[in-house]
Amino acid sequence: MKNNRTNENVYIPLSGKIEEITELTGDVRLFKVKTGASIDYVPGQFFMVSFWGAGEVPISVASLPEKNGTIELCIRKTGVVTSAIHSLETRQTIGLRGPYGNGFPIDISKGRDVVMVAGGIGIAPLRPLIKQFIKNHNEVGKVTLLYGSRTPDEIIFRDEVEEWEKAGITVVLTADKGSDKWNGSVGLVTGLWPEVRTGFKRAVAYICGPEVMIKAAMRDLFFLGMPDEKIITTLESHMKCGVGKCGHCYAGPKYICTDGPVFSYREIKNHSMLIP
Ligand SMILES: Cc1cc2nc3c(=O)[nH]c(=O)nc-3n(C[C@H](O)[C@H](O)[C@H](O)COP(=O)(O)OP(=O)(O)OC[C@H]3O[C@@H](n4cnc5c(N)ncnc54)[C@H](O)[C@@H]3O)c2cc1C
Ligand code: FES
Repeated sequence: MKNNRTNENVYIPLSGKIEEITELTGDVRLFKVKTGASIDYVPGQFFMVSFWGAGEVPISVASLPEKNGTIELCIRKTGVVTSAIHSLETRQTIGLRGPYGNGFPIDISKGRDVVMVAGGIGIAPLRPLIKQFIKNHNEVGKVTLLYGSRTPDEIIFRDEVEEWEKAGITVVLTADKGSDKWNGSVGLVTGLWPEVRTGFKRAVAYICGPEVMIKAAMRDLFFLGMPDEKIITTLESHMKCGVGKCGHCYAGPKYICTDGPVFSYREIKNHSMLIP
């Protein structure tokens, strides 16, 4: 696992200059941040992102590593810290500690079909994985993305869907509630299994979204015949240190920050504190 940390002292953040801010939906923005250092990371890892005086929050990487140290972070305005970050403008700086966590196991998808299941902001950590599969398209079979949001207006990275499809990814979008302009599917993302033209028994799934969606998706995929070690999800929890010291993210036998945030269904299915 690559773990090229931003700083020797894990509690001292590296400074990142905001280069570009893109409004993706009413409450979600994409921040392009230049660190000036080449940082290596894998999809599914996260950074502790801070703004002086506001606090620090875990945010997944939404991009693949760049030689110039530019990192993209897709952030939903939720509360105190994320609102403070949303109030920033280009050229202002934020703090970054990381990359932390284990990241998605990508090797297990070699030669297999892939089903990605995203709900809401859960598309953010899956975006670099999509980019990785596009880059290494010869190494995986058919890739399908099922992505659900509450309303069509809340679909994040909608502008990129065409590019993903052109690169060979089958994308199926759904909204819990449709609108006059929406001609896509209406309903929960877990209602889209019939759209997946793949043999579940030999495929690999990567899931990220709200807890209720993760739970339903993992169980459905298991009953559709996917082996439990091939059903991969990310889990969320409140975090303070990100490095296994403070105990804030402790759940049953695992620390979400260091043992996760990515787990297989096999690892978590018998632990009530871990299973969402
Ligand atoms: C590993 C990991 C990766 C994440 N990646 C992203 C990402 O890429 N983009 C993104 O927008 N968000 C991401 N989050 C969630 C993000 O960290 C929280 O939204 C953020 O901590 C909220 O902080 P705040 O100070 O703005 O809100 P607060 O004022 O602390 O809280 C606002 C509300 O959100 C709830 N909340 C806070 N943190 C969490 C959490 N971790 N899980 C569930 N509910 C929470 C609080 O209970 C409260 O109801 C990630 C979380 C984890 C653990
Ligand atoms: S966030 Fe401190 S132990 Fe995980």
